[in-house]
Amino acid sequence: MTHATPPPIQVVAHRGASEDAPEHTLAAYRKAIEDGADALECDVRLTADGHLVLVHDRRVNRTSNGRGAVSALELADLAALDFGSWKDREESPDWVADPERTSVLTLERLLELVADAGRPVQLAIETKHPTRWAGQVEERLLFLLKRFGLDAPPAEGPHSVRVMSFSARSLHRVRAAAPTVPTVYLMQFVTPRMRDGRLPAGVRIAGPGMRIVRNNPGFIRRLQDAGHPVHVWTVNEPDDVQLCADLGVEAIITNRPRQVLSQLGR
Ligand code: G3P
Ligand code: CA
Repeated sequence: MTHATPPPIQVVAHRGASEDAPEHTLAAYRKAIEDGADALECDVRLTADGHLVLVHDRRVNRTSNGRGAVSALELADLAALDFGSWKDREESPDWVADPERTSVLTLERLLELVADAGRPVQLAIETKHPTRWAGQVEERLLFLLKRFGLDAPPAEGPHSVRVMSFSARSLHRVRAAAPTVPTVYLMQFVTPRMRDGRLPAGVRIAGPGMRIVRNNPGFIRRLQDAGHPVHVWTVNEPDDVQLCADLGVEAIITNRPRQVLSQLGR
């Protein structure tokens, strides 16, 4: 009897190839595409003038030479900041500023990059702290997805975009407006309500942190028994990659896409 080969584990570049280039920059995403990543992960936040930009923290202090909350700054303010040298200066004494490594990236520009990638590249977009914005993050996100024809499944193959969040409410808003866009419920802890492998209503994909996978593989099996694909973040160490592979998860989200692909024999 022959067994069907399971599809390969999807390798998702977390904030781009963020070990090699400053996170969430064009350079980090170009590198991830060159490295062969199957998908790109990004965090989206709304600026004061309504643009979705890729910044992880609430404030720009850690990843730029500026200060303040993204939500209090306009796109032009962010465009004037340097989002790269905090990493590059540390790593190279011969550092020279390169706009692709130092400029803030909008979601729109990332969607253009993916459209021009020359091969299918999926997107895993995380809405950050969307409860403060009463639906504006999701509204703007879906507007952009629609403009790029990504709000509905393609004629063939899997949906090329999914929306992730720690907020069940945010995922609910996305599904209400675009029911076919897959949603991923991110988890840092296993709450008593989820212990038996149940996710918030309507969510198909589980997004546990690597710590949950290490400490509670039984929970991962319960998610799988309940029919949920599992996408794990952030998986950088070879032992963790192996554990995810042994458990048969569907996606590994990593800062090191090249190394993970090579460990998985790709
Ligand atoms: O991919 C999910 C993961 O990115 C969630 O954590 O803090 O890196 O956004 P964080
Ligand atoms: Ca994220």
